[in-house]
Amino acid sequence: MSEGFGTGFVAGLEDVVAAETRLSGVDGEAGELIIGGFPVEELAGRASFEETVYLLWHDVLPDAGQLAHFREELAGRRELSRATMDLLRDVVAEEVPVMDALRMAAGTVSPGTDEEEALDSVASLPTIVAAYSRMLEGEEPVDPDPELGHAGNYLYMLTGEVPGAEFRRALETYLNAVSDHGMNASSFVARVIVSTRSDFVSAVVGAIGALKGPLHGGAPGPALDVVFEIGDMSRAEAYLREKLGRGERLMGFGHRIYRVRDPRADVLAAAAERLYTTDGDREFYELALGVEQTALRLLEEHRPGRNLQTNVEFYTALLLHGLGLPTQLFTPTFAAGRVAGWTAHCFEQRALDRLIRPQSVYVGSKDRRWAAR
Ligand code: ACO
Repeated sequence: MSEGFGTGFVAGLEDVVAAETRLSGVDGEAGELIIGGFPVEELAGRASFEETVYLLWHDVLPDAGQLAHFREELAGRRELSRATMDLLRDVVAEEVPVMDALRMAAGTVSPGTDEEEALDSVASLPTIVAAYSRMLEGEEPVDPDPELGHAGNYLYMLTGEVPGAEFRRALETYLNAVSDHGMNASSFVARVIVSTRSDFVSAVVGAIGALKGPLHGGAPGPALDVVFEIGDMSRAEAYLREKLGRGERLMGFGHRIYRVRDPRADVLAAAAERLYTTDGDREFYELALGVEQTALRLLEEHRPGRNLQTNVEFYTALLLHGLGLPTQLFTPTFAAGRVAGWTAHCFEQRALDRLIRPQSVYVGSKDRRWAAR
């Protein structure tokens, strides 16, 4: 078979099926997301994050004994090695952005079996993010507390305070809702890396790099900035029109697969709303809802019939802001949830053991000849 001279190129691999998976399924026309057999609405608000990870890895929910063991396994792997801490202390001086620090530090997870690397990656990503974000603020990292669950411990390491049940539940709902999402760009990257028989740590590092981009996981920070910059509903329409007029995309809207509202948006909206309790908070939440409605109306004018709808990132921003997280932690926190899916895809790809190696169409010239120089 020759490569490079055929046809059939689809930009962005749109509609190309790259894997069979039992992890999650997305119906973009119906607005449905199934994770490990459960509709996202059923799973996200009820499961602990540990249960979701176990479900994705084993295709079954753990019983009480298995869950206790799994929780202990993960909790015992939260602490960072000296090499990881040294790296974070080195890069903090240069104020390296959190996602870049996370990408570098995730690569310091010690080589081991696939299972060990998966456990270490899931367990340590929140510790890396929390430790580094505290270093950036000039504060000492807070040691993980093995008595706390995965989500509660993350908030504890960020603030030094044990979070209330409402906060723990909200974060857990978020982490579950974003744990996996079909053949998203970062999971595809992870699968490509493992398909070369490379290791899970490398796959997670590559996936973090893919997630960082504004068209994938980098959108929630800018989505919230827009609401802050608008500040008052009277300015929303003019502000958003100007952005669209400059050819910019509105962050938190549109999706490659969904042609209707992203089902995760509603799950996160319900969880986020409960966090905005004071008058001032409610005012901000109402402003965000108003901005969303205006954006949807203008996007319909901008691309009539394309049905650009609110995606997961808009309500991610509201939920994580409601939890008190600064915007620079939004994408790293997404990574802390999606690592469940990345590692699960790694296990699936390892079992398949088939090199992912697509083709390209050569469109360059063919008749150049070397002249003496
Ligand atoms: N704002 C303005 N215009 C948009 C937006 C948007 N949010 N989304 C799409 N469009 C426009 C595109 O520019 C395109 O116009 P063109 O044909 O003139 O280039 C048209 O609508 C159709 O675009 P699609 O083919 O639907 O977009 P695509 O599938 O390539 O991209 C994406 C999907 C990247 C999510 C896009 O909608 C976008 O950039 N949204 C903003 C960023 C964002 O919110 N990302 C998070 C996605 S969710 C996730 O990854 C977890």
